[in-house]
Amino acid sequence: MLVRQVNFERMPEHIAIIMDGNGRWAAQRHLPRVEGHRAGIDAVRDTVETAARLGIKVLTLYAFSIENWKRPAAEISTLMMLLKRYLRSELKTLLTNDIRFRVIGRMDDLADDIQDELRAAMNRTADDTGMLFNIALNYGGRAEIVDAARLAIEAGIRPDDLDEQKFSSFLYTAGQPDPDLLIRTSGEMRVSNYLLWQIAYAEIYVTETLWPDFRRRHLLEAVLAYQKRERRYGGINIARAK
Ligand code: FPP
Repeated sequence: MLVRQVNFERMPEHIAIIMDGNGRWAAQRHLPRVEGHRAGIDAVRDTVETAARLGIKVLTLYAFSIENWKRPAAEISTLMMLLKRYLRSELKTLLTNDIRFRVIGRMDDLADDIQDELRAAMNRTADDTGMLFNIALNYGGRAEIVDAARLAIEAGIRPDDLDEQKFSSFLYTAGQPDPDLLIRTSGEMRVSNYLLWQIAYAEIYVTETLWPDFRRRHLLEAVLAYQKRERRYGGINIARAK
């Protein structure tokens, strides 16, 4: 039992995941790419529930990047449809598990019906006090930094008053701890414009597992690997991860 090896005193507070490999999963089965996304929903469900059970405070999943608009229209509309369906079918589970749902990204550019669905899920779960589940949608790390700079200017922040902490308060993730652990599936060694500011000190864990195959066991393996790392934050202290 992998869960017995987990040290609950040294859990990552925030886990961020780049869900990659849906297309390859489908290709291996001679299926259209969208079938990979469809299968990816089961992995999302399992991961959200496992993370909540483990007591993770924040889970952030990368569902759609600003760059993803370059994909074929049919693939994009399937992704949006899947998202909508996911929210409808999972809202109850989110509420039962006390999970608060949030969107990070340029939500205003999404279709109205998708925005309505997202807002409804955010409103319904707003009072939940358990795990915070961020979904990154129409998200780009650089875009987020630009948006934060704009907000800071709009707020009339004077240059001398701007420091890292202040700047963070204008990011989509204001008030949240930075990710301690960044997981990427399907073996790619890239950050792909994800949470660029926030992952400054994150431990990166890459698994060959394709996203649709990712389950509880894989999340536990990532947490165990994280717990074996030394985190130094640029210093020399030799204490193990938290
Ligand atoms: C990457 O696989 C995955 C995506 C671009 C989308 C991830 C979305 C989902 C799992 C479904 C919707 C999400 C939620 C939270 C309901 P890829 O297509 O880039 O795979 P490839 O690199 O193998 O081509």
